[in-house]
Amino acid sequence: MKKYVTLVNKQNKLKQSYSRNLKLVPVKDYDGKDDFLEEETYKAYKQLKEFLYKKGIIIDLDGAYRSVEYQKEVYERFQEKLGQEDVSYRVAPPGTSEHHTGLAFDITLKIDGKYDEEEEEVATHLPIYQEIASHLSKFGFILRYPKGKEEITGYQYEPWHFRYVGEIPAKIIAQNNWTLEEYITKFSAVLYVNKPRGITSFDVVNEISDVFGIKKVGHTGTLDPLAEGVLIVTVGQATKIAELLTAEDKEYVAGVLLGIETDTLDITGTVVKNKPVNLSKDIEKVVNSFQKTYLQEVPKYSAIKVKGKKLYEYARSGIEVELPKKEVTIKKIKLLSSDNDTFMIKALVTKGCYIRSLVRDIGLALDTYATMTTLQRTKQGKIGIKQTNTLEEIKEGNLTIHTMDEVLDFPVIIVDNKLERKIKTGQKIPNNYKIKDKVIFKNTNNEILGIYKVERDKLRVWKNF
Ligand code: DAL
Ligand code: ZN
Repeated sequence: MKKYVTLVNKQNKLKQSYSRNLKLVPVKDYDGKDDFLEEETYKAYKQLKEFLYKKGIIIDLDGAYRSVEYQKEVYERFQEKLGQEDVSYRVAPPGTSEHHTGLAFDITLKIDGKYDEEEEEVATHLPIYQEIASHLSKFGFILRYPKGKEEITGYQYEPWHFRYVGEIPAKIIAQNNWTLEEYITKFSAVLYVNKPRGITSFDVVNEISDVFGIKKVGHTGTLDPLAEGVLIVTVGQATKIAELLTAEDKEYVAGVLLGIETDTLDITGTVVKNKPVNLSKDIEKVVNSFQKTYLQEVPKYSAIKVKGKKLYEYARSGIEVELPKKEVTIKKIKLLSSDNDTFMIKALVTKGCYIRSLVRDIGLALDTYATMTTLQRTKQGKIGIKQTNTLEEIKEGNLTIHTMDEVLDFPVIIVDNKLERKIKTGQKIPNNYKIKDKVIFKNTNNEILGIYKVERDKLRVWKNF
């Protein structure tokens, strides 16, 4: 769920809409006082506590949910005690505390029957706090203010302050040694999804956005609800390369029914034309003849724009428009099977080719009508069904995350600090590397800085990260 990755810090106040949907459950503090945690956070906290107990570590809460008014009290108390300078590294100004989310809490350790209450005690027991931190991600928690990241978080190291973000984000954050701020800005993933039939590509994007808690998610090449198969999804920074992946060739397996044509050109539509099937031509020969480049009339129900409006919008309001024709190439096509008035084809096509239009055209070439009954995308570029994850696998965290340089076939060059600054600010650089098309520049930490493309004897920025 996106709410578990909500960023609250000095620059990002908690939004009011968040609190409206917040479900808090009561929980007791270490000294028996009533406190509250968000419901999923509460469940995860219970599990963490139980797990640690079995290891001989006793933790309890020392402050979880705080209202803005209560944070004001805390802030003023510490301001008096520490002075303005120190308080700003320790206590969040009211409205900007994670404690408002119900997803964050402070713990205290019980050692020899006594709880840590003073910072000196925490310092003495630091190895235990560090051990706890190493188990947090399994339960969906992160150490929100780690050592060495004070500049990013804005706060001193707090070994006691844990934040629930959900298991998948927590694991990624731990693996990369990131803060929540870094996860939100740096996370990038390319996922190979096996889209099921019955949902839209947009539904897939939404589900994945929820899994990672990242808003920026895109897909590369729509599959209609009827269609299933390879859908490449880009998350975070990787959304910037979506257009490159969309441009790749795609392979489909489609089912065809002869004798009818529908308005949508597939079986979910309304029959608009029909004719008894009386084949005089050989299906295989006709299918094979479509291995060519030709001008293909786009479907009436498609997102192609004519005079600023999408074709399906005209179609839905019953307005007739002349359908544009686009040049498409069928690189390979094969008849897989046939049975009376049905058959299956497999086709490898270039960007922009509509399989339902191809099916219609094959029908016409057979002197009848044809409608697509099933559609499976079996490949996009080099990615086949075998490399995909189902949505269930992804939700369980049982997935493969691909990196941008892994899916792009461009050379990768690692640059020094001086060049890093130039690339980050998008300056042109000489093509000293004999690059022919595009190149990926990375820094010594293996982070992508930019993708550049050749422009005469120079390299010019194409995408900045
Ligand atoms: N101690 C943390 C930063 C807070 O006050 O929310
Ligand atoms: Zn705290």
